[in-house]
Formats: sequence, C-alpha cells, structure tokens
Amino acid sequence: MSVLAGKVVAITGASSGIGEATARLLAERGAAVVLGARREDRLDALVKEIRDGGGRAIACVTDVTQRADLDRLVQRAVEEFGRLDVLVGNAGIAKLGPVAEADVDGWSAMIDVNVRGVLHGIAAALPVFRQQGRGHLVTTVSTSGLKIVPGQAVYAGTKNAVRTILEALRQESTDGVLRTTSVSPGFVRTELADSIDDPEEREQVRRRFEQFALDPAAVARAIAFAIEQPDEVEIGDITIRPAVQN
Ligand SMILES: NC(=O)c1ccc[n+]([C@@H]2O[C@H](COP(=O)([O-])OP(=O)(O)OC[C@H]3O[C@@H](n4cnc5c(N)ncnc54)[C@H](OP(=O)(O)O)[C@@H]3O)[C@@H](O)[C@H]2O)c1
Repeated sequence: MSVLAGKVVAITGASSGIGEATARLLAERGAAVVLGARREDRLDALVKEIRDGGGRAIACVTDVTQRADLDRLVQRAVEEFGRLDVLVGNAGIAKLGPVAEADVDGWSAMIDVNVRGVLHGIAAALPVFRQQGRGHLVTTVSTSGLKIVPGQAVYAGTKNAVRTILEALRQESTDGVLRTTSVSPGFVRTELADSIDDPEEREQVRRRFEQFALDPAAVARAIAFAIEQPDEVEIGDITIRPAVQN
C-alpha cells in the first residue's frame, strides 16, 4: 500500500496543468485531495473523475489572492477528512515580458498570485500543522529562478521570493513538525502560456511547450516523491526539466 494512503493533501491551482496532474496522481495513490482554484467547473469535473475511479476528493473554490479563501481551503480539508497533511501551493501565473515594457499591472498580478498566494497558504496551514504536530508545505517555483533569462525577470523574482521564504521557514522549523519542499520545473506542457499577455513571449513559450516540454505528470511524480518520504526525511529542493532544455 502506498504511503500516500490516508494522507490529506490540499492543492492550489488544481484546475489545470501541474496541479491537476498532481491531484490525479496523489488520489490514485490513495491520498484524499482537496482541490482549490477559481474555475469551479474544472474542479468539479476532476472531483467526479477521481471519485468515479474510487478516490477521495472535494473541490473548494479558491482565489489565492484572498487570504480568507486559503483559510477556507484548509478548514474544508480538516472538516471533511479530519486533518491536513500537505499543502501544495501551486497556483501561479506568468506575465512574461521585458522589464522595459513596465507592465506594472502584470507585475502586481504575479506578486499577488505567486507570492502573496503562497504566503496566504502558509499562514492558513501552519497553525493546523503545529496543532497536529506534523505538516508539509510543497510549492511549485521554477527553473526561471535558477537560470535567469531575459523576459522573465519579475516572474523569476516571484519564484525566487518563494524559494527564499521556504528556506527561511525550513530553518525556523527544525523541531520536526514541518517539512518544506520547493519544486522547480522547467518547461511543462500546461495552460500557463495562456496567462502571458505579451504576444511574442506567449508564442515563444507555446512553441517550446509543443517542441519539448514535459508532461505535467512528470512534475506530479516529483511532488509525490517528496511527500512519500518518511516523516524524518525532508526533500528541500527538486529541479525537474526536459532533458533537452538548456
Ligand atoms: N508550465 C511550466 O512550464 C511551468 C514551469 C515552472 C513552474 N511552473 C509553475 O507551476 C505552477 C502551475 O502552473 P501550470 O504550468 O500548471 O499552469 P496552468 O495550467 O495555467 O495552471 C495554473 C493554475 O493556477 C490557478 N490559478 C491562477 N490564478 C489563481 C488564483 N488567483 N487563485 C487560485 N488559483 C489560481 C489556475 O486555476 P484557475 O484559473 O481556475 O484559478 C490553474 O489551476 C505555477 O506556479 C507555475 O508558475 C510552470
């Protein structure tokens, strides 16, 4: 039996891409999953698919920019399944483009979703983890923050902000209660390009998605690997990219 059986995992950004693939895989391996995102129809369809396959899942409409929504997501997990073992803070958007374009609205949107959204999740989950004596925060950051390239400055900055916050939180939490994991994917074939407003950047990312991007299930397996470790083993960072990505 998988060590995931009996674990309760809440996932933000579960309506598509990496979050959806992660929900599907963890549910297949026996976890109860609590799916958060804004598109209710997509969440409901995934809940139905998981339940039809014998898994356990509920949907909770969540806008990660709203702190109360994350409180509700965590609360729903506890109400429905009795606890929360893992929060996967995965929701994200990529308003790519050169800094000189001064897309201040896009920058603010990325800060709100990619940084504030993760912080809202941390604030909501930590008290529950402390009360339970155990918990695991997983976030989806990006290789954009590891290999800095033009056009991704602010996006990469938001991802590295989260990487930094998680590392500090790890150092503040060495009493064995909390595990933290930052997963850095390279190109993964998802709907992320749809969130890019700059037409040139959007087309470039779409081309790369078509040419060599990973299936989101590959990232889901990496996330499952981190969660499946024994409680005393913390996988801090995972970088996962297509073998042909430079
Ligand atoms: N694809 C890649 O190449 C790649 C590479 C590195 C890192 N990542 C990261 O992986 C994560 C998942 O992205 P993806 O590639 O799977 O793209 P995706 O298919 O576009 O998924 C993004 C998810 O985030 C959700 N989301 C966006 N804004 C939200 C908000 N305000 N509140 C709640 N949920 C919100 C979306 O759901 P709703 O629209 O329904 O709310 C969707 O479920 C992101 O953090 C992204 O930065 C992706």
